Amino acid sequence: MKPKNVPQTIITAAPPLLWETSAAPATRYVSSDPKPLDGTALVPEGLGRSVPLAFSEHSELQVVRHFKALSQANFSVDRNMYPLGSCTMKYNPKIAEAIASWPEFFNAHPNNDKSPALAVLGELQDFLGELTGLRAVSLQPAAGAQGELAGVLIIRAALANRGELETRTEILIPDSAHGTNPASTTMAGFTPITIKSGAGGKITPDLVRPFIGPKTAGIMITNPSTLGIFEDSIQEVARMVHEAGGYVYGDGANFNAIAGIIKPTDYGIDIMHINVHKTFGTPHGGGGPGAGPICVTPELAQFLPGPILEKVGDHYRAQTPEKSIGRLKTGWGNFGVLLRAYSYLISHGIDGIRKNSIQAVLSGNYIMKKLEKIFPAAYPETCMHEYVAENPYVAGGVHTLDIAKRLLDFGIHAPTVYFPLIVKEAIMIEPTESESLEDLDRFVEVMETIAREAQENPEVLKNAPHSLPLGRVDEVLANRKVIVKHDLV
Ligand SMILES: Cc1ncc(COP(=O)(O)O)c(C=O)c1O
Repeated sequence: MKPKNVPQTIITAAPPLLWETSAAPATRYVSSDPKPLDGTALVPEGLGRSVPLAFSEHSELQVVRHFKALSQANFSVDRNMYPLGSCTMKYNPKIAEAIASWPEFFNAHPNNDKSPALAVLGELQDFLGELTGLRAVSLQPAAGAQGELAGVLIIRAALANRGELETRTEILIPDSAHGTNPASTTMAGFTPITIKSGAGGKITPDLVRPFIGPKTAGIMITNPSTLGIFEDSIQEVARMVHEAGGYVYGDGANFNAIAGIIKPTDYGIDIMHINVHKTFGTPHGGGGPGAGPICVTPELAQFLPGPILEKVGDHYRAQTPEKSIGRLKTGWGNFGVLLRAYSYLISHGIDGIRKNSIQAVLSGNYIMKKLEKIFPAAYPETCMHEYVAENPYVAGGVHTLDIAKRLLDFGIHAPTVYFPLIVKEAIMIEPTESESLEDLDRFVEVMETIAREAQENPEVLKNAPHSLPLGRVDEVLANRKVIVKHDLV
């Protein structure tokens, strides 16, 4: 059935790509061994080869249009609202991109101990120590998940140091946690123990108490939780775990709601990673690139992955702690991402970060309130920077995926869907502090239109998107047979 009333979208028809219109194979080849004017060979003798020149049969204008259209075929935060809950796709200020291209940084070599890059990394460590209250910091981990792994390995090393590794084998994890928490725990050799959230979607001392005992190595808590809710018994839970001899790990993926307002040490966190690519604005669509610095108490500093930057007089020196869990990454970590995070931090200052957090929480609550009748919160209470909505239209056959796909027709990237797992058909909306009031209102209007369509004309949703080069893809096949490149010729 052809859907009725498909509204005009903001997406204009893109010119066809040359891949679609051209059958001409490449007939000209270029050498990958070009000789500069002074005759010095760039590639050792005999190792050069000729490669086909893509689109050699087309004019420059055709090729420019092809690549321009290609660059705009995807959604990005520079073009579209991107309310991707938990992933925090905030705007990435261009100043950070400009600084990243400065030759001092672009050409920095990890073995140059005079490089200005070392000061950037050293100061970034200090910034993160100030924001978390956990003053010992390693910038090594290349993602949030790797930060988690580092953190759990630090717990392991600390327990081994105490001679308690054999007995303390369990890490407690609420059922609202990101899947990487139990995965990191298992990779580090511990047994994850799931704590079922209470009626309000939160953990409480009563829910955690029965699981705490001599086997407890620690607990991993995401605060705010993946439901976008502040875990208000976290301080008491942390006290209980400490009293039992365990460590408290804070998953800092949602730090964007509280950074600059409260220090995680105030509620008992011993170890925490920060997804700097979420909190401090680095482009990270499609699963990367990222960085997940790990911050710990002074007691645990001896186990941090190296190298760590240490201030000596007026410069920084890289060194690795004696009982370090080892390296996680070559060089200084994911330097390009760390540099952008540093640029973001110095251009905002701690006070600017605090204001961002406040604005992010305000925007999250604004949307939750505006949509409360048509996309009600799964756990209705004041949210933090994001809220998890229910999908009331499932009974009429409209699934969350249909809503997500329909949003694309309106030029809005889909929110995170089907996560957290404890909410069926979850829609997780995170506007971030970057969106203007006008954009928040437009998002609300679009969601109202979609809610109306879900009731009056559900086929429009079930067949969405209508305006993009690709409609629904076979996601099972796409996962089983991943093709991540397109041959240029
Ligand atoms: C709560 C939570 N923890 C951990 C992670 C893992 O972070 P990363 O994707 O940087 O590995 C995520 C990512 O979305 C997350 O939302």
